[in-house]
Amino acid sequence: MVKIHTLNIEPAVVNASCAWASDYEQLRELYESAYTGAVITRTATFNGFSEDSSNTVAFAKETVTSVNSYGYSPHALSMYLDWVYTLLTTPCLDGSPPTKPIIISITASTPTVLAEMVENIQGLRKKLRATYSAAASFGEFIPPTSPTRSNRNSASAQPSTSTQTATHLPNLDPATLVGIELNTSCPNIKDTPPPAYTFTLLLPLLDVLSSAFYADSSLTIGLKLPPYLYSTRFAEVVRSVHTYTREIRPAIFMNGNSHELATQDGHPLRSLNPFAYIACTNTLGSCLLFAEQAFQDPAAATYPYSAGADMDTDDAPYAPQPPASPTPSSPSSSSSTPPPHPPSPSFMPSPFALPPALGGMGGEAIHPISLGNVYTFARMLAAHPDPAMRRVRVIGIGGVTSAAAAARMRAAGASVVGCATLLGREGVRAFEIIAGHQAGVWRGSPQRS
Ligand SMILES: Cc1cc2nc3c(=O)[nH]c(=O)nc-3n(C[C@H](O)[C@H](O)[C@H](O)COP(=O)(O)O)c2cc1C
Repeated sequence: MVKIHTLNIEPAVVNASCAWASDYEQLRELYESAYTGAVITRTATFNGFSEDSSNTVAFAKETVTSVNSYGYSPHALSMYLDWVYTLLTTPCLDGSPPTKPIIISITASTPTVLAEMVENIQGLRKKLRATYSAAASFGEFIPPTSPTRSNRNSASAQPSTSTQTATHLPNLDPATLVGIELNTSCPNIKDTPPPAYTFTLLLPLLDVLSSAFYADSSLTIGLKLPPYLYSTRFAEVVRSVHTYTREIRPAIFMNGNSHELATQDGHPLRSLNPFAYIACTNTLGSCLLFAEQAFQDPAAATYPYSAGADMDTDDAPYAPQPPASPTPSSPSSSSSTPPPHPPSPSFMPSPFALPPALGGMGGEAIHPISLGNVYTFARMLAAHPDPAMRRVRVIGIGGVTSAAAAARMRAAGASVVGCATLLGREGVRAFEIIAGHQAGVWRGSPQRS
């Protein structure tokens, strides 16, 4: 078991926030899996992201790799609050009380909106406490009215609004099962850089989370980071996170993310940092897969080139063609290059695996860079002079597509591992593959290690 502040994660495997953790049915399936130790929701915004057909995913033919052009979840935060409430107040299929943590992934473009989102999550945590203490006052129970698997899994399943489905959790504060992950790193939002690449955008968001933590230190907060490509960026992240450490008198703070320091006057102080973990890495942005490289060749579909979220036809004067085989150059072609063809106004097959052409890459292709990020952060945190920084955990994500890949992530310094692309390819069976209990099957090809 790995403990990340208030979250006990056993086994130390999670789904990474992704499109396959979008709705209640998917979250319920992830929650019921014996091979996940916590569930992370898809990233929610306050009102829901307006998704269209340009927001999609494609898988590579040759490796367990994806590119996606999704933004955030179309479901508003309020939906996730209802679903998480239901999950945490409904007995599991085997009748046991729900004790698996759920991390709600969120993002916002302004600190004000983020503060409201955090407040709403705190509202959910209070509601869970109230529900459970009401249930406890009537003694431990799992009422016969608990939803069956079929009605819990139905797409129309409504969240519980009463204590009827509550189940008593001895010695466990149900609010401590809920964490927050700030997604700082989606590469697919038009005209909006991932905040973690632009620290002037990131720090005001971290200020909000820090204030929330110092108002209630039972909150577990993580940061989802993008892949960084050079050393000074890692140092910048660690330096920024460290600025939020405070040395606090212990009376008002709970155990877990605290550390006693001897002070000159003999009174103990505790060194606290609001950020319990970093999740490395998100997808690598601006990647392009041609349709011919994709597993399910979407070239059969037709759509206008203007459809993509990242494609602006005013700035895109021609439609690129699939790569041609090299041909010997004629004498005239060496002197000047003919201009590209103007765009066709008509619909035509796209040469790309994604409608916008560009997207965020995940899976095997990013495994080395994700390992490098995990390794770098884990070493920097472990060597940090601040004990609160040394307690920040790393969730290793990126190309975890087999038990061997998960072992590499752990060897690089991850306390917990997570996956998205493998989940998209295999469904929740992905977590059995990571556990080494099932071999990965990839299009009938030999089993991967
Ligand atoms: C289809 C898809 C949707 C994703 N959506 C999110 C998201 O909503 N929030 C987030 O933080 N990361 C999102 N990610 C990134 C994943 O959480 C993960 O960081 C990345 O895919 C690398 O892991 P992998 O190699 O296992 O795919 C998404 C990834 C995929 C493939």
